[in-house]
Amino acid sequence: MKLTENVARGGNAQVSIIIPTYNESKNIIKILKSIAANLPKNTFTETIIVDDNSPDGTGKIVEDYLLSVKKIAGYTIDVIHRTAKKGLSSAILHGIQHATGDTIVVMDSDFSHPPQIIPKMIETLKKSQCDIVVASRYIKGGMIQGWPLKRKILSKLATTVAKRGLRINTSDPMSGFFVFNRKIIKGLKFDAIGFKMLLEILVKTREANVKEIPYTFTDRKFGSSKVDFITSVDYVRSVWRLYRYGKLITKKEKRSSVRFLSKAGRFFTVGASGLVVNYLISLLFVAGIADFWYIHANIIGIIASVTSNFILNKVWTFEDTDFAVKRTITQYSKFVGISSIGALVQLSIVFSLVDVYQLTYPLALILAVITASFGNFILNKKWTFKEKIWG
Ligand code: GDD
Ligand code: MN
Repeated sequence: MKLTENVARGGNAQVSIIIPTYNESKNIIKILKSIAANLPKNTFTETIIVDDNSPDGTGKIVEDYLLSVKKIAGYTIDVIHRTAKKGLSSAILHGIQHATGDTIVVMDSDFSHPPQIIPKMIETLKKSQCDIVVASRYIKGGMIQGWPLKRKILSKLATTVAKRGLRINTSDPMSGFFVFNRKIIKGLKFDAIGFKMLLEILVKTREANVKEIPYTFTDRKFGSSKVDFITSVDYVRSVWRLYRYGKLITKKEKRSSVRFLSKAGRFFTVGASGLVVNYLISLLFVAGIADFWYIHANIIGIIASVTSNFILNKVWTFEDTDFAVKRTITQYSKFVGISSIGALVQLSIVFSLVDVYQLTYPLALILAVITASFGNFILNKKWTFKEKIWG
């Protein structure tokens, strides 16, 4: 990536406008002028042009223009010269990586996307506290001008496929004109295949809040569209990859539910083993190795079973083999605390079910044991062994 030396570098912009260009010699200066006339008020803004070594000299034209144009306070323009045509999404991603603003605007350079609505899009992003603002052709008030019927139908079709297949609610996920909060893509990896950068962002930031504002897409007056057969192949490839990406995420979610259930299963098994330990030890101290008073024997039985439950749950259920003294004592105290509360809860459930709701004792006991053990499980998972509840 080579940067122009003669342009004041941005570095502290609030808003970054990304403009990918390929053979836009007839449009680029006009669009730069129009953007300069429609900058958001009182906002440090930078425009980043990402040119793919356009054979028509777009890159050079911008360089020459930047040498002659009068600087505007609080506004800078950068050019990134790439060596070859690598695709629109890839150019956008490149621009984003270079951008310094928290708010990123993405748009075309051929006047299909009116710069007049940039301030409104940015304002909408700020005011409605959403993460992405999409300029949409497909909501009320939006339109397409100058496209032949064939391209209109293809666009609508591709949009429907993407929305259904990838479960997207945005009405124009294929828009090339959008503004977003940079932090929502932090840590994400992008394929950046073909033209549909917004679609990929929408799929990978499912929780993001999206707002759409209508605009009229006007087909270009100068130069020609770069959409060709390859672009359509890229579209299919990119939707397919995003589809698989979505499947992978659901699989991971499923795995976390499986993990949750298997841990719950182990916890209940340990609980059952505790009953056996309690029974055997209590008997042993009454009639086996000693002849204690049965209450004392039972107390020993309870202590033994709570302790064996603790050790088994620590090592087996929650897979924690760190037996550092302080850590283990803390965990043990919490475990005992939760068990005692659990016992009280169990008692009061049995009491109310039998006494107030007239249930039979065995049924009441089963319900009470299940409720109390489940509560014990959740509390120990979260509090004693510091795990997320889910997963
Ligand atoms: N750097 C770079 N590299 N720029 C490119 C490339 C590339 O390989 N391909 C296209 N561009 C630039 C063009 O110079 C233009 O500024 C912009 O990307 C859009 O290209 P067009 O060829 O004009 O696309 P379109 O008008 O058919 O479709 C546009 O509008 C649709 C509706 O919003 C695109 O933005 C589509 O993604 C969008 O769906
Ligand atoms: Mn265009």
